[in-house]
Amino acid sequence: MRNDDAPLIGLMSGTSMDAVDAVLVRFEAGRPRTLARHALPLPAELRAALLGLAAPGHDELDRAAQLDNRVARLFAQAVRELLELGGLRAGQVRAIGSHGQTIRHAPSAAEPYTLQIGNPALLAELTGITVVADFRRRDLAAGGQGAPLAPAFHAAFFARDAADTAVINIGGIANLTHLPAGGGPVTGFDTGPGNLLLNAWTERYLGEPMDRDGAWSAGGEVNAALLDRLLADDYFSAPPPKSTGREHFHLDWLDTHCRALGRALPPRSVAATLVELSARTIADACHVHAPVADAWLICGGGVHNRLLMARLSALAGPVPVRSTAACGADPDDLEALGFAWLAQRTLSGLPGNLPEVTGARGPRILGGIYPA
Ligand SMILES: Nc1ncnc2c1ncn2[C@@H]1O[C@H](COP(=O)(O)OP(=O)(O)OP(=O)(O)O)[C@@H](O)[C@H]1O
Ligand SMILES: [Mg+2]
Repeated sequence: MRNDDAPLIGLMSGTSMDAVDAVLVRFEAGRPRTLARHALPLPAELRAALLGLAAPGHDELDRAAQLDNRVARLFAQAVRELLELGGLRAGQVRAIGSHGQTIRHAPSAAEPYTLQIGNPALLAELTGITVVADFRRRDLAAGGQGAPLAPAFHAAFFARDAADTAVINIGGIANLTHLPAGGGPVTGFDTGPGNLLLNAWTERYLGEPMDRDGAWSAGGEVNAALLDRLLADDYFSAPPPKSTGREHFHLDWLDTHCRALGRALPPRSVAATLVELSARTIADACHVHAPVADAWLICGGGVHNRLLMARLSALAGPVPVRSTAACGADPDDLEALGFAWLAQRTLSGLPGNLPEVTGARGPRILGGIYPA
């Protein structure tokens, strides 16, 4: 049953490196219907190895090549478990759209590049399903940032003629999509850190991978001096197109700013300040780029951080801040759904990027196809 209407699988493993998000989806008249979903956590040792690759180091090539395969094996496991949950066989799936795991994103380097691993050839071999992967590099080759790619899918899924909408994905990095009423040009860019700094800080002080529900940060006091220093980073004032990652926003960046304050702050106060940084930079981006939005729709893991959501609501003023669940889209599935959608675009010979978002010279068919 490998026809054009067959279900697809979307695989996403984001900057947080928390889990492989997998969805089994059928597109019915362009609308996604999720048949099954699965989040397979990254084993701690693999996560540590990947984090080790996310910063320059020694003998990277060998480690990268090996992790390329190990990530593919984990992806294949996610696919097997997803198919079991959805009650389908591999032969019934049209394709897997696999984002891969970003280990370096340098779109503004003299020789711009972006690198996602998760060997698509091995993934096709292990699953027996056609894989579409490596979506970002073609956009970069065409002069774009290669990111964010979600806005095209957000536009296909959320755009309503009558409503002006901001969609904000809060993963490790946060990104905004502005969908103007009346179908005008979509804008979008990475606003800066979403969860990744808070995750790293919580890991350091609590030994936990995240500040669940924002409970720890909620008991801390925002330090205005530190917040001002962090907000002064050039990334936030740079005009779009722009995208970022762990290369720019990491614990050393935060430590440098903390040291420059000249006095130690309670860790909890820094945590609260990091939540405020995410909230402020997201809200500022919305106020400037989506000033008449009827609603801010939130997806990605950050939607579960109650402090962050409360701060976004406060900064949005009268504009309602809602989970995308309110529009029938599970906030934890959206990125993976987007890569299933992108795979379908590529297989249909349709472009997947929005040049006005990424800065590419034009629309491009993204990714490579690795037949089953
Ligand atoms: N209950 C929760 N409370 C607080 N934060 C949460 C909760 N659940 C998830 N998160 C945050 O969301 C993160 C995972 O979100 P998500 O999977 O959307 O990000 P990602 O993998 O970085 O994806 P991407 O970068 O592609 O958007 C976790 O690392 C954590 O910081
Ligand atoms: Mg994730």
